[in-house]
Amino acid sequence: MYKRKEKNMEEKMKMNPMFNPDGNDDVSARKIIKGQTTGLFNLNAVKYSWAKSLYQVMIGNFWVPEKVSGLKDDARMFHSDLSPQEQRAYKGILSFLIFLDSIQTVNLPHISDFISSPEVNLILAIQTYQEAIHSQSYATILESVVESKERDEIYYFWRSDSILLERNKYIGQIYENFINNQTDENFFRAVVANFLLESIYFYNGFAFFDTLVDKMKMLATGRVIAYIRRDELTHITIFANIIREIHNEFPAIYSEKIIMEMMNEAVKQEIAWSKHILGDRIPGMNEQTTRQYTQWLANNRLAMLNIGPLFPEAVTNPYKHLDRLQDPNSDKSNFFESTVVNYTQSSSMNGSWDF
Ligand SMILES: [Fe+2]
Ligand SMILES: [Fe+2]
Repeated sequence: MYKRKEKNMEEKMKMNPMFNPDGNDDVSARKIIKGQTTGLFNLNAVKYSWAKSLYQVMIGNFWVPEKVSGLKDDARMFHSDLSPQEQRAYKGILSFLIFLDSIQTVNLPHISDFISSPEVNLILAIQTYQEAIHSQSYATILESVVESKERDEIYYFWRSDSILLERNKYIGQIYENFINNQTDENFFRAVVANFLLESIYFYNGFAFFDTLVDKMKMLATGRVIAYIRRDELTHITIFANIIREIHNEFPAIYSEKIIMEMMNEAVKQEIAWSKHILGDRIPGMNEQTTRQYTQWLANNRLAMLNIGPLFPEAVTNPYKHLDRLQDPNSDKSNFFESTVVNYTQSSSMNGSWDF
């Protein structure tokens, strides 16, 4: 049995054909991967209802970074109110987030090429678009908040920071491995890497910006980050569902061992990076809170896959008091000017497009 499983993991995946007249789009024949799609987006027939619900949430979350106000205040504050340690953390964390969103925008279509369900391809296309918007939002922040000579320093922080360089290379490598050798196992690893990237890697960075906002610093950056996080929550759910469907439909490809192994490595790297970029130099954050938060998150994310906790001792979120800053639609927060960036309020943009 074990041998058979090992052999299967070496099998090559086949990219969806562009058009396959012999395919079958029936819901009864539909599969998350390795299905016989015609290539047509028949979205009236839906097998994965979670994809349809996520589509609605993602479309409802539409926002544009250019409409977030207050970045000029952040520009003033960046040089006058942030300590040198906070300025360094701001730059390093933004650099990492910029890398993550860049690589997501480019890599997601490679994953989607092997997902044989149009309703899931649809939301992966929206996710890709959102990751590109996130890149645009970093450009908007950098343009407004820091001086022009500091922009390249942030984009290319990894050129002079060996720890960030190693992290970025590690993530890039997992994606490259699948592109270069399209086995079932490498596909599964790429999907798990996506889940970890969306669900663990962004989060100490997000907590840093929340901590600044809690001290009434860099509020506009915090708002942009909160909109990004709202999108990322849907992305985590997409990949948790893809992993669950692989578990249901292809138990020989699913591997809890690989998930645990990769989660453990992700947590280790996230704690090491956070220690490096935040240390104990940011009021409200220290090595202990970072460790506890990352482990607590890991348990939480594993629960989404119906896997028990990897760190049973990490039962509480040390940043619970920052929760009110996380949801732009929450009544608990008066920190968002929720009227200006959401799609429903963006009629002022009508006619502003130049063709
Ligand atoms: Fe993103
Ligand atoms: Fe994302």
